[in-house]
Amino acid sequence: MAELMIGQTLAFAGNPLLEGPGVARHSARGGVLIDAGRIIAVGEADDLRRTHPQAHVTDYGAGLISAGFVDAHLHYPQTAIIASWGKRLIDWLNSYTFPEEMRFADPAYASEVAARYFDLALAHGTTSMCSYTTIHPESVDAFFSAAQARGMRAWAGKTCMDRNAPEGLRDTVQSAHDDSARLLSKWHGVDRLSYVITPRFSPTSSPEQLSAMGSLWAQHPDCLMQTHLSEQTDEIDWVRGLFPQARDYLDTYEAHGLLGANGVYGHAIHLEPRERARLAEVGAALVHCPTSNTFIGSGLFDMAGLVAEGQRIGLATDTGGGSSFSMLRTMAAAYEVAQLRHGSLHPSALWWLATAGSAAALRAGDRIGNLVPGMEADLVVIDLASTPAIAQRAARAGTFWEALFPTIMMGDDRAIRDVRIAGRRV
Ligand code: GUN
Ligand code: ZN
Repeated sequence: MAELMIGQTLAFAGNPLLEGPGVARHSARGGVLIDAGRIIAVGEADDLRRTHPQAHVTDYGAGLISAGFVDAHLHYPQTAIIASWGKRLIDWLNSYTFPEEMRFADPAYASEVAARYFDLALAHGTTSMCSYTTIHPESVDAFFSAAQARGMRAWAGKTCMDRNAPEGLRDTVQSAHDDSARLLSKWHGVDRLSYVITPRFSPTSSPEQLSAMGSLWAQHPDCLMQTHLSEQTDEIDWVRGLFPQARDYLDTYEAHGLLGANGVYGHAIHLEPRERARLAEVGAALVHCPTSNTFIGSGLFDMAGLVAEGQRIGLATDTGGGSSFSMLRTMAAAYEVAQLRHGSLHPSALWWLATAGSAAALRAGDRIGNLVPGMEADLVVIDLASTPAIAQRAARAGTFWEALFPTIMMGDDRAIRDVRIAGRRV
């Protein structure tokens, strides 16, 4: 039976980063009609009640109904080491990340962390995500099995690395290719799952492994390919030493068939003009990971400049280099980083990035990330007065955006009142 969810609603008729806040569609008393896992209609509550008198009504009062959050870049195996102190990227990887990822050789541990990660993500209102795993094929099975059991739209791939990682955490050119190909045929397109070809980053893949990943992508061009790009200056220096013939960091991917429209490049902070031009030309996606970029000390993403160039941009936690599972906290960090670059991201732009923007970065903007008839009913209901501090500020608000912004800046999992996956309450 159809269900009519009533509350405040927020949808987008365009991209507020390009077209301004006017493309946001807010209703103070809106409705979202859902049935069989999809959104059937979006409109004013009274109109939908009249046209669909038989629908079961769930009234959220002042709760804000939105598309669920989409986290476009994270590492679920780093769940247990989130917020590890005192290191920059390379030392952080060696001190905390690699030892933890080693544990995923044990399928039982991988399943335990995958379940814990999904519980945390859903509690924070994240209904779709694109994750790295570890070199172990079992870590991919654990992620997809957990997502499948919850009915979620999710992306992941085997993280490939055959050098500059400890013994026990390296694959080979052949095993990376063969395991990736096998996992791709096992999971890609099954239910709501998509396989992502995943070379971790140039420093941990030999040129031969990058080429093998490039060949696999050429055989499966509909798959996304994800990797890291120009996150930290020490990392870029390292890449220059490892690939002396490359024009720049992006060229280490481009030369091996790893630059394309379905490429999803995490961080992308310290880009050269040639890299920016090529990324825009091919229509690749860049993923902003602001809590990670401040936490690991990587730098300030050039949101305004990249938007002006026409880059496609998504938003992500980068768990556990990022310091939060919350896309609310991630929006707040994106706001703060933009402020440090003398630009103010409007709440509509922040919300768009965390929903429709990330969905578009994952080439799924026609399925998830917005309240549009026909889209999958992955939804969140937000309490805009979830703590005393937020409630007292929201009470002073003169506009919807003023009422929403305190939750963006100060909200966390306490603001998540309800979560729906394909319409079903979780
Ligand atoms: N670059 C390569 N691997 C990683 C990772 O796990 N986290 C972050 N933040 N950057 C990376
Ligand atoms: Zn990452």
